[in-house]
Amino acid sequence: MGLDILPQSNEEYGTKEYWDKRYEKESDGTTFDWFKSYDDVADMFRELIPDKASRILMLGCGNSRLSEQMYDDGYKNIVNVDYSSVVIQQMKERHSEPRPEMEWHEMDVRALSFGSDTFDVAIDKGTMDAMMTSKGDVWDPPQEVVENCTKEVDEVIRVLRKGKGTFIYLTFGQPHFRRRYVTRPGTTLEIKELGEAFHYYLYIMRV
Ligand SMILES: C[S@@+](CC[C@H](N)C(=O)[O-])C[C@H]1O[C@@H](n2cnc3c(N)ncnc32)[C@H](O)[C@@H]1O
Repeated sequence: MGLDILPQSNEEYGTKEYWDKRYEKESDGTTFDWFKSYDDVADMFRELIPDKASRILMLGCGNSRLSEQMYDDGYKNIVNVDYSSVVIQQMKERHSEPRPEMEWHEMDVRALSFGSDTFDVAIDKGTMDAMMTSKGDVWDPPQEVVENCTKEVDEVIRVLRKGKGTFIYLTFGQPHFRRRYVTRPGTTLEIKELGEAFHYYLYIMRV
């Protein structure tokens, strides 16, 4: 990652302008995977998503290779969304020919325009985290952060098929800071720890 695409402050990760600018600078086919790549989690994902025909929603896809690698592993029914029109255009151009069944939509994860009960799986790798990078006390996050994350999870629960839907959230955020967002009545939560020196967490919420 070049230093010129690092934000001046952490809060910029929470703005669409930052992501548009960053992706404009990465128009040469750059890919970047936050935290973990598909190879790191493939065995776990295959276990969590046994049906390759599952309809999967990728929340805040960025220019990560996760969707393409999952597609090449047989998960053809992937719908990708990101609020950066720049990255959505790039990803459409890059993948429409080799991976024609995959969809790309400019969309905010806090206001999804899909119908209720239409996805089997939703995946968030680092997207909710980007909305948490505001100033303030990490132990007591500002109201805006709580509202943004709550809206995303409300939308995820709405679009997942009840009784069989799974939300997979991959983050560096430890349970103390993240559990509150993925704990809801009528759902179950499982947390897996990944990594050796530096830990990542997989939150698995079944709706
Ligand atoms: C840290 S990057 C993670 C990208 C990718 N998921 C990965 O694993 O490499 C966060 C991504 O989420 C997108 N994003 C942030 N907030 C969003 C929102 N409210 N709605 C849709 N996309 C959002 C950004 O544009 C960026 O592409």
